[in-house]
Amino acid sequence: MSELIMVGRPLPPLPPVSTLPDWQQADPRWIGNALQKALALPGGAWFVVDASDRFGDTPRRYPVAGRQLVFWRGKAGLMAAPDECPHMGASLAAGCTRDGLIVCPWHGLALGDRPMGSWRTVPVHDDGVLVWVRLDDCGETPSERPYLPARPAAFIGGVIRMEAACDAQDVVANRLDPWHGVHFHPHSFKRLRVVEQREDEITVRVAYAAFGRYAVEVDARFHCPDPRCITMTIVRGDGQGSVVETHASPIGAGRSAVVEATLASSDRPGFRYALGLARWIRPMIEKRAARLWVEDIAYAEQRYALRAAGSSGGLTAADTAR
Ligand code: FES
Ligand SMILES: [Fe+2]
Repeated sequence: MSELIMVGRPLPPLPPVSTLPDWQQADPRWIGNALQKALALPGGAWFVVDASDRFGDTPRRYPVAGRQLVFWRGKAGLMAAPDECPHMGASLAAGCTRDGLIVCPWHGLALGDRPMGSWRTVPVHDDGVLVWVRLDDCGETPSERPYLPARPAAFIGGVIRMEAACDAQDVVANRLDPWHGVHFHPHSFKRLRVVEQREDEITVRVAYAAFGRYAVEVDARFHCPDPRCITMTIVRGDGQGSVVETHASPIGAGRSAVVEATLASSDRPGFRYALGLARWIRPMIEKRAARLWVEDIAYAEQRYALRAAGSSGGLTAADTAR
């Protein structure tokens, strides 16, 4: 392989936490413990649905945690409710909106804030990047607002949503295993070593492919702010402060949605010009994220399938130590 040429801001030297081969460093017990810590965090009964800018005037239907919900723009903002008309059960997502109400396509019933029988709206939160819905009967203690990770003040945002045949925890577990990066995504990651590892967060020094032999190296920290989210924050190097939020929302039995928001930022003076080009940069961000998630969904689905079959692999470094 030809030698890599690093471009971008130089990083202070930091020793790797281990010189063992990646497969020995990727200890399933550490990943499992970090995952359990994440799963024990409060979620506030909030679930990410999709990017804010995908909700326009047309009603949209999304499956969330075993329910079918319809979203529409009401007079006071985004609204969500069961996608089942209280009259005879029509899908309201096939209807239209009028004066902030959603109008049933079968017999014209117009619905809004006011409950109708057992039909009523559910709380929605639009954080400007993502739309969340709160399901108060999901078994979690509801919170006023979702537990949002820290975000940069100015950023170019891109959001992808993909569905996978796995549980939400398999999506989080994939991100708690950074060691697979170079091996499983060689087109994107050229070099990766762990430089800090705690019980519930891990920091890697990773060189990602820029163009040809050129790569940009940054320090990126993975951390879970709630049981269905893992963030990657660039803590040193070019793009410091940028965040990738990977959210995993259950949609039904053995199915989840991966909703990933990339919030790219920079303290370089030229970044303000890049902000003006956001609409052209955003599709590139989303294309790159989607490419990685095609592969990572295969990883998460394999993990789910193994668990469903009662197997987990689970060979640890200790097992192989001589
Ligand atoms: S089914 Fe909706 S108004 Fe009749
Ligand atoms: Fe990956």
